[in-house]
Amino acid sequence: VFLDCTIFQKTDDVYSNWLVLTSETRRPCPQSCRCNAEPLEVNCSHGQLSMVPDDLPQDTKLLNLTHNHIKTLVHHQFQTLTQLLDLDLSDNLLAVVELEAFYGLQSLLTLRLARNHLKIIPVGAFAGLQNLQLLDLSLNEILVFLDFTFRDLAALKYIKAEYNDLVFIAHQAFSGLTSLQELHLDGCNLTAVPTEALAQLSVLRSLQFHRLGLTTLPNYSFQNLVHLKELVISHWPWLNTLLGNSLFGLNLTSLTIRHCNLSAIPYIPLHHLVYLVYLDLSFNPITHIHGNLLGDLLRLQELHLVGGSLLRIGIAAFRGLTHFKLLNVTRNLLTTLEAGAFQSVDTLKTLGLDNNPLACDCRLLWVVQRRLFLDFGGQSPTCFTSFQLQGWTFLDFSEVELLSLLTCNQPRILNRKPRDVKVDQGQTVVIYCKSEGDPLPSVNWLNPQMRLLSAIGRIRALSDGSLEVRYAQPRDSGTYICVASNAAGNDSMPVKLDVRVHPSSSKNPFHLKGWFASPGKNGNQTHSFDIKTLLIAATIGFVSFLSSVSLCFVFMVFWSKSKGQIKHTATIAYVPRGAPSNSKGGTGNTETSRLTMKLI
Ligand SMILES: *[C@@H]1O[C@H](CO)[C@@H](O)[C@H](O)[C@H]1NC(C)=O
Ligand SMILES: *[C@@H]1O[C@H](CO)[C@@H](O)[C@H](O)[C@H]1NC(C)=O
Ligand SMILES: *[C@@H]1O[C@H](CO)[C@@H](O)[C@H](O)[C@H]1NC(C)=O
Ligand SMILES: *[C@@H]1O[C@H](CO)[C@@H](O)[C@H](O)[C@H]1NC(C)=O
Ligand SMILES: *[C@@H]1O[C@H](CO)[C@@H](O)[C@H](O)[C@H]1NC(C)=O
Ligand SMILES: *[C@@H]1O[C@H](CO)[C@@H](O)[C@H](O)[C@H]1NC(C)=O
Ligand SMILES: *[C@@H]1O[C@H](CO)[C@@H](O)[C@H](O)[C@H]1NC(C)=O
Repeated sequence: VFLDCTIFQKTDDVYSNWLVLTSETRRPCPQSCRCNAEPLEVNCSHGQLSMVPDDLPQDTKLLNLTHNHIKTLVHHQFQTLTQLLDLDLSDNLLAVVELEAFYGLQSLLTLRLARNHLKIIPVGAFAGLQNLQLLDLSLNEILVFLDFTFRDLAALKYIKAEYNDLVFIAHQAFSGLTSLQELHLDGCNLTAVPTEALAQLSVLRSLQFHRLGLTTLPNYSFQNLVHLKELVISHWPWLNTLLGNSLFGLNLTSLTIRHCNLSAIPYIPLHHLVYLVYLDLSFNPITHIHGNLLGDLLRLQELHLVGGSLLRIGIAAFRGLTHFKLLNVTRNLLTTLEAGAFQSVDTLKTLGLDNNPLACDCRLLWVVQRRLFLDFGGQSPTCFTSFQLQGWTFLDFSEVELLSLLTCNQPRILNRKPRDVKVDQGQTVVIYCKSEGDPLPSVNWLNPQMRLLSAIGRIRALSDGSLEVRYAQPRDSGTYICVASNAAGNDSMPVKLDVRVHPSSSKNPFHLKGWFASPGKNGNQTHSFDIKTLLIAATIGFVSFLSSVSLCFVFMVFWSKSKGQIKHTATIAYVPRGAPSNSKGGTGNTETSRLTMKLI
């Protein structure tokens, strides 16, 4: 639509120069066409034509040949129409365009060949179109763009070539397009981004790239496109990664990556786009917008993420974006959107939040309070989870109800008796921390050094809010703090953990590492080293540590003889034993030691 408007504005100016001449005598209107005198427009649409009529008035300005059965355009087909400005051949059966078919159309500004059966365009087909500004090749079956296909089109500004079957774009295909500003491409059968070909388009401002089968956008995909302002990547159904430097060299103001398979916002590839104003990542399975990661996009004003899988927009997600005014996250899985996500909610003018399972509580109060000033895009958000407010739209609230209905309850940790947990060394302990509140509080644990514990590691915070300490060590002792927090506040509870030094358990005092060679390739080597025997021998206590090591070596020697290929060093971790002090024969010394041996 945008394209058509600009072209027609331009052609209008040109027509006015021709009005003076239209009184000249001219040929009658060709059969099956309708002519309109000023400017001379010949409309042969739906004329059952199988060829271009050869009696077209020479001063035709607009020629409409759409919806006919024309199959071929021959050499110098339109030679006499030197004043033609607009030629529309869409919706025909064109399969062949001969060399210099458009020769003589020296005034032509617009050429439309959409919805035909073109498979290939011979080099030289567009010769003579030195003023052409728009070329529409969309919805054909073009397989390749050969080198220099467009070399004669120095004035061309727009190419529409989406919905073709492009398999290959030659490196020099776009050479000569020195004015091209906008390109719509379709790559459903390309195997790579045509980086070299695109690099010819030094003044390109807008690139729309549909349907490409890549899973990863490689580094340096777009080179030399220093004037590119708008990039649209859409319907790349397998695209799940943008490499760190994939957008390197671009200085975009508008970026769209729609209908792809991104599961996260590509923060790193985007971060250098400091002039970006518009970002659209709709219809990607993105689950989170994390805090503090978009701050480099200083000038960002709009983020569209419609139809994604968003579960959460983190606090400070839009920190640093002082011009941010539109967020459209309709049709996601958000339960809330906190004011803390924004640098300032006062700059926000438009908010698409409908079709999310929203929990109406104090976190959304700021949205409801601004319901009359915010543009919800015609669809007001609706409460979903709370039983009491289910189905209420944000416009249903009256000013007096607001504060009493959209409430939160501070978290409260349940069963908070003084908690001292005593545990024997080596044991595993789980400490529960149950809490209530509305919205449901999130529970975190701080270790005695006041550091937040993560979900991995020997000491970890489990997803149900409890703390797990596996194989407790004396150094784990100290005060752990459970913190339950939600939008309304927080509650905490200290728990003192005391790990009692205990006689070393008799499990696995020997830990053998790097001992065995990789299994032989031929299956006849069934000889296997019996580690259990060794462990039992070592643990029973009849054999002293050293003698068990010697035993190892005896095994090793035999085994290496039979196997041939073994490693020549072995690391043995062991728990030294002291004099037996009780029935189990252990002592307090539990430091694990290591011993590296060399085999000759
Ligand atoms: C050309 O003719 C077709 C079919 O008769 C008609 O639908 C169309 O509106 C005409 N175009 C113009 C620009 O008059
Ligand atoms: C191009 O891709 C489409 C859909 O992916 C497929 O149907 C078509 O056969 C392909 N064409 C060629 C020439 O490979
Ligand atoms: C999209 O990515 C997910 C994994 O992230 C994968 O399971 C799925 O098959 C991908 N979809 C397509 C169309 O490739
Ligand atoms: C792409 O660029 C990133 C960022 O510099 C780099 O870490 C990565 O190794 C590059 N990948 C390839 C395949 O070159
Ligand atoms: C990037 O684009 C902006 C506006 O589009 C322009 O002002 C700026 O000079 C450009 N920067 C570079 C390095 O080209
Ligand atoms: C968000 O995007 C959807 C789909 O494009 C559109 O229908 C809706 O009006 C937009 N909402 C806002 C607030 O712009
Ligand atoms: C808990 O709330 C207090 C104020 O009520 C605040 O100062 C503190 O930072 C909060 N702690 C956490 C971990 O959120």
